[in-house]
Amino acid sequence: VVLALMLSAQALLAQVGQSAGRALATELGCIGCHAPGVHDGLSSAPRIAGQKMNYLAKQLKDFRDSKPIAPGPHKIRERHHRAMDNQARSLTDKEIQDLVEYFAKLPCEPQLARPPKPPEPLPAAVVRCGFCHGEEGVNPYLEYPNLAGQKKEYLVNELKAFRASALNHGDAEKSPRFHRMMAPSVLDLSDAEIDAISGFFSTRSCS
Ligand code: HEC
Ligand code: HEC
Repeated sequence: VVLALMLSAQALLAQVGQSAGRALATELGCIGCHAPGVHDGLSSAPRIAGQKMNYLAKQLKDFRDSKPIAPGPHKIRERHHRAMDNQARSLTDKEIQDLVEYFAKLPCEPQLARPPKPPEPLPAAVVRCGFCHGEEGVNPYLEYPNLAGQKKEYLVNELKAFRASALNHGDAEKSPRFHRMMAPSVLDLSDAEIDAISGFFSTRSCS
């Protein structure tokens, strides 16, 4: 009985977190740009419904803590973006947790109900992405984002940002995004390859 009570208390707490997250996402306007559901939100804003919780939380903390930066080689600012830095600036860790729980538990929405067969041959560089992100853009690792069904325009934008950071040794002034695994993974990609890879992952099914 005690166990059953504990379990239902846990389920209840999870539900409370979920509705707190939804209320906050509505109040803060996250839903306007990251519209889960039929609408697609702002075209440059990524889909976050069904994305990994840990990954989303890290991104929000990166945006929130992106300024001020301390100079020096050991403090690389991993991510900044005008709209999102402002959105995240005053969020507490608890609010971030509620928000990401809400978005992560929503079903992800594939861009296309039935994904087309992947192009033959696959863009060659896709293979190396598959080790971390999954061959079809879905993977089991909590810190690695799924790419399947993400907006193509957004993928292109992020890949170019990672590449720019690699070419500029992680200089945050020269690129809005850096990550120690991603920078070397995209360093050598051409614009055409970035376009092909983004097209491939954006048309995979995320569910
Ligand atoms: C004015 C539009 C706008 C609003 C409002 C907004 N976002 Fe964003 N969000 C964006 C854009 C644009 C990006 C992409 C930033 C980039 O290119 O680095 C983004 C990126 C993100 C990411 C990173 C996702 C990923 O795949 O890496 C998360 C998480 C996120 N937003 C959560 C939120 C939450 C939570 C809120 C509400 C507190 C919110 N956003 C409000 C526009 C918005
Ligand atoms: C060694 C593992 C690894 C490899 C290989 C790798 N990635 Fe990543 N990727 C990551 C991690 C970890 C992140 C999360 C970065 C962060 O936390 O900011 C990421 C982030 C991304 C993002 C940002 C997603 C978002 O929602 O903002 C994109 C896009 C991406 N990777 C595409 C690729 C592509 C395309 C390739 C192949 C060319 C690739 N990655 C290879 C580990 C990897």
